[in-house]
Amino acid sequence: MSEWISAGEMAKRLGIGTAGVRYRALQGDLEMRVNPQRKCHFQYRELDAEHHTLEDPTEEPVEALVARQVARSRRARGANEVRKRVVRIQRDEPFAVVHMGDPHVDDDGCDWDALIRDVETINATEGMYAGNVGDTVNNWVGKLIGKYKQQGATESEAFKLGKWLFHEVPYDYIILGNHDHWNQGGSLFREFSAGAQVSAFADHEARIEYFNQAGATFRLNVRHDFKGHSMWNNTHGMMKRAKMRPWGDLLVCGHKHCWGQYYEEAQPGRCAMSIRVRGYKRDDEYAEAKDFPEDSYGCSLTTVIDMSAHPGDRCKLFHDVELAAEYLEWLRSG
Ligand SMILES: [Fe+2]
Ligand SMILES: [Fe+2]
Repeated sequence: MSEWISAGEMAKRLGIGTAGVRYRALQGDLEMRVNPQRKCHFQYRELDAEHHTLEDPTEEPVEALVARQVARSRRARGANEVRKRVVRIQRDEPFAVVHMGDPHVDDDGCDWDALIRDVETINATEGMYAGNVGDTVNNWVGKLIGKYKQQGATESEAFKLGKWLFHEVPYDYIILGNHDHWNQGGSLFREFSAGAQVSAFADHEARIEYFNQAGATFRLNVRHDFKGHSMWNNTHGMMKRAKMRPWGDLLVCGHKHCWGQYYEEAQPGRCAMSIRVRGYKRDDEYAEAKDFPEDSYGCSLTTVIDMSAHPGDRCKLFHDVELAAEYLEWLRSG
């Protein structure tokens, strides 16, 4: 055991100032005591080797902690790979996807007439499937929780309606929007999707590659929103993705409660259609307060896809879901 010495002697021994000695003592790197002879001064001594290696026997051994972290990081990497997975769907005949914009089913402004029309047309049409770009419910959070007082549906009714929509039609994809993720929404919707007919259920982004027996493919890339904004063009984020990180032949999103469409040869020989769907929420008080214009059309947009057609004609866009259904039936009868 080392001897007790003054702050000055310890400072000299360690090659530091006396303030440094006091700091080290406070950090537990040196022992400190009141000098028994002169009570107003302190003495210091270095910790012995045994003191340095003293361990709390109740603490989990570091080896076990490392093993747990290794397993956690492997699981996180596995989950990340699942998120980026491409879902492959075989379709040998022309088919249609009704890209349903933000439903916000519990909002008093949700256009249920338009929603029911889409649901009934999908269920009545062979080869027609639904897509949901997210924000199925308002799922108010934080300061916004008071907004439940301004709508008829309660929180539990909201999730009941959301679950109904998940199970009412067959889906090629369901994406969770920012509203869906709030609170415990993500895990609730994941549970609700059990038993629903959905090919790709994604927290943020879905990648689907359709293929047919002849070897043709068509790629669909969906997010709640694509990064990028332009006041002149509602599809700016998707067009940017199609040029900078090309993958999809059709890029779809919602979120901003406005609609837009754009079609071009984003890469040589590769046509890319970009679509933003408006969603069903009307008479939006938030939009009125912020002076956002409210679009009249585009609650949902329907794409009819014929992988055997000319590259520029493989994807046809319709506003009217019933007209799209008629066109699809004609295509499939040929
Ligand atoms: Fe959103
Ligand atoms: Fe939304």
